[in-house]
Amino acid sequence: MEEERAVLRHGKVEHPLEVFVGTEGESGLDIGRLLSSTGMVALDYGFANTAWCRSAVSFVDGNVGALRYRGYPIEQLAEHSCFLEVSYLLFHGELPTLAQLAEWREAITVETLLDEGMRQMFDACPREAHPMVLLSAAVTAMGAFHPELESTLAAEQAAIHLLAKVPTAAAFSYRRSRGLPYAYPRRSLDYCSRFLQMTFSVPGEEYEVDPVAARALDVLLILHADHEQNCSTSTVRLVGSSRATVFASVASGVNALSGPLHGGANQEVLELLQQIHADGGNYAKYLARAKDREDTFRLPGFGHRIYRSYDPRAGVLKTFADQLVTRQAGQDPLLEIALALEQTALTDDYFIERHLYPNVDFYSGILFRALGFPTRMFPVLFALGRFPGWIAQWKEMTEDPETRIGRPRQVYVGSPQRDYVPVHERR
Ligand code: SDX
Repeated sequence: MEEERAVLRHGKVEHPLEVFVGTEGESGLDIGRLLSSTGMVALDYGFANTAWCRSAVSFVDGNVGALRYRGYPIEQLAEHSCFLEVSYLLFHGELPTLAQLAEWREAITVETLLDEGMRQMFDACPREAHPMVLLSAAVTAMGAFHPELESTLAAEQAAIHLLAKVPTAAAFSYRRSRGLPYAYPRRSLDYCSRFLQMTFSVPGEEYEVDPVAARALDVLLILHADHEQNCSTSTVRLVGSSRATVFASVASGVNALSGPLHGGANQEVLELLQQIHADGGNYAKYLARAKDREDTFRLPGFGHRIYRSYDPRAGVLKTFADQLVTRQAGQDPLLEIALALEQTALTDDYFIERHLYPNVDFYSGILFRALGFPTRMFPVLFALGRFPGWIAQWKEMTEDPETRIGRPRQVYVGSPQRDYVPVHERR
């Protein structure tokens, strides 16, 4: 990309800075030599103004509400593609041919079983454990069961193993929480149908896959597949930059995603909607709390670090939620509350001034619930979708010649130097 220049003036001294311009015209001030040339570091809480890498995996335009995976708009992928094809696209950078997709699908299908030792690990966990805890433990343990995949040279095989085994681990974590026997993967089913079968099948009965539910889950996973350098993806890259294995790096992404400000928000949205419903539908009370600076409550599923307009994923999910819920139950009081909450918030100055719109988590919970999942599984479903993005970003980081171990600086605000005082002399 062409390079421009900028000048940082500090006192009487001018420091030239190169400007790197990306594919979509976004510019980055290269401050790689800021400390050595100025003695200063850049202070940027939450990295809100800092790009810490160049990446080709996904692109978000927060002003217009656009999201593209390897250049393809997610609306087109959600309509015409499938999750396994998207996972191939993110990992390899190009859409597969028919033969490549068939090979990718077959390689994943044959690896869906977990080592029986992993099953015993699930049995050892408390039934009340949050399924994200079990998922993180399972991904970390995968490295122990597959040491041959820990080298970056085995990245594609590791990706295939993770994409194959994570749905099984997620389904096992659900079955464990319900005290149900594990349902082993049926290889004759497609990716999403197999996950629904492992999760919801009743022992001794033939499981009938609902194709509409399987397609809705496929679209949900596509929409969650990658999203630039969000908290969990940056965590995967940071851990991976120390040359930790892909299993250790991606397991750290699961842990980062579990927080309620990130992937845990979908669970919070549903619990809030259920609380409002129990409260007689009085959502105004919660909107008032979200606006009250003295109240730490924030409206889950609203707001985003990047989007200053509608999160395009929320738009697709809202349409799907309408269709799936209407088809299933005619109406869902929680969906009615969500729609009313959104309408009111989008006309409220507090939300308008802060560009707070529904994000991916606002409607996904309604859909996950319509598919029969309990709220505690929602972050796990977000993670299932995000695995291809985490793996693709980890691979890109390991292949980038400019990658260095991530080690941010700080500005020290603690005590100036002082001498030790023996304890009997202290007052
Ligand atoms: C995801 O980064 C990604 O890409 C993430 C993600 C992905 O695909 O990986 O898109 C997935 O994590 C979506 C976000 C899910 N989280 C939530 O829905 C939790 C609720 N949202 C907020 O906590 C918040 O909006 C964040 C965490 C999403 C973004 O936080 P920022 O960018 O740090 O925004 P901020 O805290 O600086 O807020 C700016 C202002 C503040 O008010 P003022 O101080 O200006 O008066 O907006 C207010 C905030 O109080 N605000 C909210 C709010 N979100 C921001 N007020 C009420 N409710 C909210 N939800």
